[in-house]
Amino acid sequence: MFKKSVFYSLAVLLMVSGLLLSACAPAAPAAAPAEEKPAEEAPAAAPATEEKLAVGIVLPTKDEPRWIQDETRFNDALTAAGYDVEILFSQGDSAKEKDNVESLIAKGVKVIVICPQDGTAAAAAAEAANEAGVKVISYDRLIRDTDAVDYYVTFDSIAVGAQQAQYLVDNATGTGNPLYLYAGAASDNNAFIFFEGAWGVLQPKIADGTFVIKNSSEAIALQDKATLTRDEQAAIIGQVTTNWDFNTAKNLAEANLTATTAADKGVVFILAPNDGTARAIADAFAADTDVSQYFVSGQDAEKASVQYIIDGKQSMTVWKDVRTLVADAIAAAIALLEGSEPTSKGAYNNGVIDVPAIQSAVVTVDKDNVKATLIDGGYYEASEFTGLN
Ligand code: BGC
Repeated sequence: MFKKSVFYSLAVLLMVSGLLLSACAPAAPAAAPAEEKPAEEAPAAAPATEEKLAVGIVLPTKDEPRWIQDETRFNDALTAAGYDVEILFSQGDSAKEKDNVESLIAKGVKVIVICPQDGTAAAAAAEAANEAGVKVISYDRLIRDTDAVDYYVTFDSIAVGAQQAQYLVDNATGTGNPLYLYAGAASDNNAFIFFEGAWGVLQPKIADGTFVIKNSSEAIALQDKATLTRDEQAAIIGQVTTNWDFNTAKNLAEANLTATTAADKGVVFILAPNDGTARAIADAFAADTDVSQYFVSGQDAEKASVQYIIDGKQSMTVWKDVRTLVADAIAAAIALLEGSEPTSKGAYNNGVIDVPAIQSAVVTVDKDNVKATLIDGGYYEASEFTGLN
């Protein structure tokens, strides 16, 4: 875990070196009072547009609470350090993402933190930044098929999938348990890593008869293989993708439930890739009278899913402490601004290069530890939920 004290000392270092200049878009006045800003900065009365922005952040969409969490945590961290850094959203559109990157380049940023909407499509935006001498940090999702990525901050995404799958395994008894598989968007490299992590845990339990796959002929065709190639993963993901979209997830789950019989239901086990899709899929399964009980995974510890877990409507989530990712991204940005190499612990191959990376641990949260982990730990307030005990 990245220590707060480390973050603050880095932030102080940053202030002293004056590398990250406080700035804001004309429509968004600077949050920090003038007296909290570094002495060398322009006085508060100076037009904001004359100030330069050294770091820009581009996030995929406001339509998923996950990315609002990241926006909030970036704002918290940067406000605490006395800075305003512009955060732009791509709204699920790679063309808008590239426009966002170009507008940040035009504003004079030196580092751009990008969480790509589409990992491969984002290569063009990363290359535009690279050509302009701007460093690129790939955030949470890997930008693929380009050498224009300087660094990658992420969570342990294999562990995310493995913990989701392990939860299902731990709750299954006997053999012949119906298993329904769902995946993220094929345009997101993480969807592959999550699935890889889950498959590593589930496949032996499919092979030994604990689980029987009910909704993917592609997965059934590959169920004897302990390790899948990317193309094999793509074949399965293509059949069970939610595209990270709640409606797609719900419609797919409903179609799967329509295509199966009462004998394929009863107590069911559902690999759902994240919280938004888990809630949508859970709602579909809960509405099927042939489903007597379901276990469903999730990811992100979104507030709505924390409430679902408290209410017994979602079984678990994998909590990824976004504060850590934000701190890692800021520390990497500071290092790059100073012309040094950010600390890396390993690398991820993006199809062209090994991108130096740092990855953070993740935590399984269910009804038994939700309060201790997320509330007592200070990530959320108890008052944001009902029925906590
Ligand atoms: C992120 C998840 C998120 C999903 C959908 C993934 O790349 O790692 O946290 O739920 O995208 O936005």
